[in-house]
Amino acid sequence: MSAISNKLIAWYEPNRRDLPWRKTKDPYAIWVSEVILQQTRVAQGLGYYHRFLQAFPTVQSLADAPLDDVMRVWQGLGYYTRARNMHAAAQQVVSEHGGKMPNTYEQLRSLRGVGDYTASAVGAFAFNIPRPAVDGNVYRIWSRIFGVFTPIDTSEGQKELYQIALDQLDRQRSGLFNQAIMDFGGTLCTPKNPLCGGCPVADVCYAFRNNAVAQLPAKSKKVKVTNRYFAYLMVRHKSDTFIRRRDGNDIWNSLYEFPLIETSGSTSLKALEKTQEWKEMFGRIKPAVLHISPPLKHTLSHQHIYTQFYIMEVKTVPYFLSTNFIRVKADSMGEYPTSRLIDGYMAAEPVGKYFLRHELEGGAAAPSATGGAE
Ligand code: ADE
Repeated sequence: MSAISNKLIAWYEPNRRDLPWRKTKDPYAIWVSEVILQQTRVAQGLGYYHRFLQAFPTVQSLADAPLDDVMRVWQGLGYYTRARNMHAAAQQVVSEHGGKMPNTYEQLRSLRGVGDYTASAVGAFAFNIPRPAVDGNVYRIWSRIFGVFTPIDTSEGQKELYQIALDQLDRQRSGLFNQAIMDFGGTLCTPKNPLCGGCPVADVCYAFRNNAVAQLPAKSKKVKVTNRYFAYLMVRHKSDTFIRRRDGNDIWNSLYEFPLIETSGSTSLKALEKTQEWKEMFGRIKPAVLHISPPLKHTLSHQHIYTQFYIMEVKTVPYFLSTNFIRVKADSMGEYPTSRLIDGYMAAEPVGKYFLRHELEGGAAAPSATGGAE
């Protein structure tokens, strides 16, 4: 226990945000909240938290649910591995712990996808287990207060800051201590423009006293952003279209998508037709291309994805499509979890909606509201 943690807890108690996961001791609900909050800010996380627990109120119900249902509730949050891991971990709780969430750090930590941070947070909030939950927000706080300039994206910096967090931990009030730190990082000691004027520990904060708030935490590298170029082929045959579930070690694992051709740069219909993927997909069949969207930029944390949607129609189903894709009614696309990119195009673009709702008989022209056809 330390003077600093006493001050942080004393600040927290009258200022605490009224959040639903703070009103429960149910380790399952707390776990759900922590995984969601690793993904998004509190304001957006609230809606996901309520929807998730409404859909899967118990760990047993999550374990029993089809993965697609879980993905659909998670849709839009990103990092879909987290949702798949939660589903697998729930099944682990059922098979290894009789459906009851375990109550030790080690057992929590052994669940799929549960790392040191999540096991510590759930352990502290549900069982008052004396461990600090340390994530990027917590590194930021302690690096500022103690003036640690070792970069937080190195194991050395993380070790140093973990040790500080451990020293500062109030072991008798672990739950309270960890909530206090999280609120402090979320409302006062924010990444940009922290509110040092209202800070209960400004008088002892190295960064504040030395005018180094903007320099801390230190990072060793810049985030490298890759550009990717996607062409989604929205192929209609009668009222059907073709989709498949993504797998592999890439973005959007377990979400559904249209046939995709990825190229190394921006491209054109003519160039696409010459690719191996196109030839494999259509063989001798020549699809009618009804509309091409302008390139749409979709931003992920480390990738910028430039996408064009090609709306096309075939009279005969190419063999490759019938064997490698799932054939679904176009207007049932909404039942499949998809990326925000695809979902957004379908919801916002007149062309996307048109594709879902209308028969494209005889190659009727698509609405031209968005232009962009070759
Ligand atoms: N961020 C991560 N966990 C949190 C929590 N329990 N309360 C508020 N913000 C958080």
